[in-house]
Amino acid sequence: MARFWVCATGAVFFLAFLVLHLRFCGTPVLRKFASQISWRTEKLFYRLDVGWPKYSEYFTGATFGVAVDSLNGLVYIVQRGDNIPKVLVFTEDGYFLRAWNYTVDTPHGIFAASTLHEQSVWITDVGSDFMILWLHGENGTGPTEFNIPHSVTVDPTGRVWVADRGNKRIQVFDKDTGEWLGEWTSCFTEEGPSSVRFTPDGKYLIVAQLNLSRLSVVAAPPVGGIGDCSVISTIQLADQVLPHLLEIDRKTGAIYVAEIGAKQVQKYVPLNNCIPSFVS
Ligand SMILES: *[C@@H]1O[C@H](CO)[C@@H](O)[C@H](O)[C@H]1NC(C)=O
Ligand SMILES: *[C@@H]1O[C@H](CO)[C@@H](O)[C@H](O)[C@H]1NC(C)=O
Ligand SMILES: *[C@@H]1O[C@H](CO)[C@@H](O)[C@H](O)[C@H]1NC(C)=O
Repeated sequence: MARFWVCATGAVFFLAFLVLHLRFCGTPVLRKFASQISWRTEKLFYRLDVGWPKYSEYFTGATFGVAVDSLNGLVYIVQRGDNIPKVLVFTEDGYFLRAWNYTVDTPHGIFAASTLHEQSVWITDVGSDFMILWLHGENGTGPTEFNIPHSVTVDPTGRVWVADRGNKRIQVFDKDTGEWLGEWTSCFTEEGPSSVRFTPDGKYLIVAQLNLSRLSVVAAPPVGGIGDCSVISTIQLADQVLPHLLEIDRKTGAIYVAEIGAKQVQKYVPLNNCIPSFVS
């Protein structure tokens, strides 16, 4: 029986899997699937953690960004609005720790860079300074040119992935040489990507599209040129949720999504822990 399930591919088995999944693992948040999906993508299922955070009353503004300090188990959220704290700090279990708005005016993005010796958080603030991007590229539509580069991430092999939102594409560069390694456009014809982050194993890129209220799981080749874009699965959020930036916990693989429309940050946990009990 177990063997049968592991080998099975195709829509019928997939649907059966979803039904069983519902029974054993709670409501799956995946709602749409690309035709090329296969059983081997079992690692890519996520479940909305409805218990995170414990109290959502702390969200009092438009939640623009989220950062995860996985070393210390902390989640930082930046929100915009009048007379509200601009930064909220939660534990990864969903407990509220503290808030601050000292020096922060109109936050856009946030990034945690803690080491074993010190905790640090970087915030891009479009109110008191212009958004800082280390990328040196002309504004335009050609290779190595950008139009609203909105999110950047680096993979374990040293490739830099840029969500070139205005040009509806992802461009990829070598971190050291700056060489242009390719672009993905076919997955983003409807709307450009607003956020890009890798799963901890480096195999998949999770991409947010703001106005489509959609998260996509895109397969990334391990090294070198990036080839064609291939969406493995998508998580369709409700209309007007507007996922702006996302972050992935390097330890647990949980995805945190800052939703400026829904004015909240939600947590999606991978369901891979749940699959083995189902297979056996
Ligand atoms: C900072 O947050 C406090 C609430 O924690 C609020 O009363 C105050 O107005 C905020 N300040 C700014 C500049 O937003
Ligand atoms: C960048 O170029 C695009 C067209 O490629 C144009 O629509 C946009 O206004 C330009 N942005 C800036 C900041 O010049
Ligand atoms: C999303 O929609 C708003 C309002 O229509 C528009 O101003 C904005 O440019 C859109 N953003 C993207 C990334 O398409």
